[in-house]
Amino acid sequence: MTEQRFLHGQWSSRMAFILAASGSAIGLGNIWKFPYLAGDNGGGAFVIVYLLCVVAIGIPLMIAETMIGRRGRQSPINTMLTLAEEAKASRHWHYAGWLGVAAGFLILSYYSVIAGWSMAYILKVGGGFLANADAQTVQAAFLDLKAAPDIQAIWHTVFMAGTLLIVSRGVHRGLERATRIMMPGLLAMLVLLDIYAMTTGGFGQGLAFLFEPDFGKLSGESVLVAMGQAFFSLGLGMGSIMVYGSYLPDHVSIARASIIVATADTAVALMAGIAIFPIVFAHHLEPGMGPGLIFETLPIAFGQMPGGSWFGLVFFLLVFFAAITSAIALIEPAVAYLSENLGLNRTAASWWSGAVCWLLGLGTVYSFSGGENGSSRNFFEWVDFLTADVMLPIGGILVAVFASWVIKREVSEAELAMGAAYAWWRALARYVAPGAVALVFLHAIGVL
Ligand code: PFF
Repeated sequence: MTEQRFLHGQWSSRMAFILAASGSAIGLGNIWKFPYLAGDNGGGAFVIVYLLCVVAIGIPLMIAETMIGRRGRQSPINTMLTLAEEAKASRHWHYAGWLGVAAGFLILSYYSVIAGWSMAYILKVGGGFLANADAQTVQAAFLDLKAAPDIQAIWHTVFMAGTLLIVSRGVHRGLERATRIMMPGLLAMLVLLDIYAMTTGGFGQGLAFLFEPDFGKLSGESVLVAMGQAFFSLGLGMGSIMVYGSYLPDHVSIARASIIVATADTAVALMAGIAIFPIVFAHHLEPGMGPGLIFETLPIAFGQMPGGSWFGLVFFLLVFFAAITSAIALIEPAVAYLSENLGLNRTAASWWSGAVCWLLGLGTVYSFSGGENGSSRNFFEWVDFLTADVMLPIGGILVAVFASWVIKREVSEAELAMGAAYAWWRALARYVAPGAVALVFLHAIGVL
């Protein structure tokens, strides 16, 4: 292929793509959100539904999105434009690209704040805060952090700057190098924490909670939550995997790479649960603690355990690694677009988009200090709702429809080169994925 086909560079190997895409998929969604959602929705039965969603919807969509990216070889917006023209379809399809870029931007604005919390905890826990800290002290620390917008703003700034530093260095020296170092590190830390969890005495109970299905606890609502979570966790419907696909060399099998990435993402979510729940149960704490599970419940347990400070430190480092390798994927579509259309160099494109995103994040920073305000959504909850419940599902449906209905069959068949499995992919992408995602969406906005 000519150099010109890769405007922004390309991955140096299949492994580089797999690590970067896994870095995008594996994030706060796996370590912060999945365990508390499983906790809130009854454990085992939720996990089974989640696995089904990954296989029937997540993987076909990931294949679809990566394929679109590789075929278009540009930012999601220009990719959609080029491919729509190639298929003689409406130019309006490029709005799907816009939707993705905007969603990534909005998600990163709050993602950076939560990731900032993990950095605050690295410092706190590393400084010995957990040594013999009792439950009240730990709880008070989390409340204090949430009530201190200035401290959160500082960490939000540091995290965003770190993200931009990586992104500004480009595909090769930035994204690829960061994920090559951090992803193995993340896995090693997670394995260490899993082994540690085995020694806590709550291991059996933790495993039973995660893997013994009690379908009585599963509501229609939880099925939809599972589907939404699969979507968010795999990082679909918003251009990140599309832009990563656009840096993918031609000879790599998209289907195989997607299956590996989805499997890694799911394995890490389960391993995070396997690390967290035994520790929670060993200390007779509640698993369904909502978003506070890892910042409040878990540190209480760490505070009472031998070596708890060390393992607590490893845990928050893990959260940080997971978050930053996702953050770079969230902003990459915008950076690619700005450098294509405004002619900005990569550094300028990164810092400009980062600055706007940072500003938006301040809205989230101030969302937590007001305490509970009844049923009305705060800024953070609005952004979360708008992205996870509205933009991602719409983006996902558009991607599935575009890949399987608009792009010509010869094109997708050649691009995917997956033999007999192609028919399966096509059926799932044409009917199952858009149908199921439409259900989630209609439910989320209150129509169903
Ligand atoms: N998949 C990430 C997580 O589970 O935390 C979040 C995310 C990253 C969503 C990248 C979307 C994306 F494009």
